[in-house]
Amino acid sequence: MKASVNEDCIGCGLCEGTCPDVFEIGDEGVATVIVDEVPEDAEDSAQEAADGCPVSAITVE
Ligand code: F3S
Repeated sequence: MKASVNEDCIGCGLCEGTCPDVFEIGDEGVATVIVDEVPEDAEDSAQEAADGCPVSAITVE
C-alpha cells in the first residue's frame, strides 16, 4: 500500500495523530508521507487517516 497527500492539505494534523508511522506534519505545516511503502501493521490506521481527513487530501492504494 502506498499513501500520498495532495495540495489540499490544510495541516489539521489528524493523519499524524492517527498514523504517525506514515504521516508527519513537515516544516511547511502540511502533511508529508515519510515512508515509501505503508507498513502492513499501519495499513488500517493509514486508511483511517485517509477517511478522516477533513479535506480528503489523502490517497491510499
Ligand atoms: Fe492534512 Fe488531512 Fe492530514 S488536512 S494534515 S492530510 S488529515
